[in-house]
Amino acid sequence: MNILKVQDIRRSFPQPSGAVEILKGISFEASKGEFISMMGPSGSGKSTLLQIIGGLDQATKGSVQVEGQAIQSLSDQALSLLRRRRLGYIFQFFNLVPTLSALENAALPALLDGKSLASAKPRAMELLQWLGVDHRAHNRPAQLSGGEMQRVAIARALFLDPPLILADEPTGNLDSKTGETVLMLLQKAVRERGHTLLMVTHDAKAASYGTRMIRLEDGLLHSDFPISTPHGTLPGNLQ
Ligand SMILES: Nc1ncnc2c1ncn2[C@@H]1O[C@H](COP(=O)(O)OP(=O)(O)O)[C@@H](O)[C@H]1O
Ligand SMILES: [Mg+2]
Repeated sequence: MNILKVQDIRRSFPQPSGAVEILKGISFEASKGEFISMMGPSGSGKSTLLQIIGGLDQATKGSVQVEGQAIQSLSDQALSLLRRRRLGYIFQFFNLVPTLSALENAALPALLDGKSLASAKPRAMELLQWLGVDHRAHNRPAQLSGGEMQRVAIARALFLDPPLILADEPTGNLDSKTGETVLMLLQKAVRERGHTLLMVTHDAKAASYGTRMIRLEDGLLHSDFPISTPHGTLPGNLQ
């Protein structure tokens, strides 16, 4: 099933010397169950592209469809509903709410959706458990390690069961061992919970956990190919 369709995305930013085109026509599609690693040199527009796909920035030209819906044609209200219910976001610096507990942070999408904390708690706890961080449920972010914070952020991203999850350098602020744990959990979320994941990273090792690799270069999609044996997977004949 087609979850994401990106067509001819262009993005220019005004500069003193005139407009600079950062994205020069990017097109690709993503299906259910794919874990796409997007790589490219620093400044190649990876974060800009992810923000356009996530409805957080607007393209100069082109279209993005999430589950067949063209996001640029949605009203502000419909776009914020789509962002909350159909997309999950994972960031390099976790972006947890410092005054809320891990449990409340995980439940945040439901709270923003008008649900009570009492009704959201069981699912938040189930997700924290699934991610191995339920022992931290009642701690605030400042009391957690980086890896624990990112696991809480993953719980938040998964809470409303969005088809598409966008992650921008999710291991960029973690040591390599903690990063590996987070990558295994993201892989598990795709495999066991049926999400589609688009992950930006500049780290080739992190990228190797995906099922497909897309490279951006000079504002264009430089290459797009399947990863035959994602890291953390046994070769087919040994499974
Ligand atoms: N809001 C903005 N205004 C002007 N230039 C921007 C803006 N956002 C990003 N850029 C520029 O676009 C380029 C790509 O940025 P970014 O998408 O963050 O790259 P990457 O994530 O691949 O490192 C950079 O040169 C950056 O300075
Ligand atoms: Mg970036």
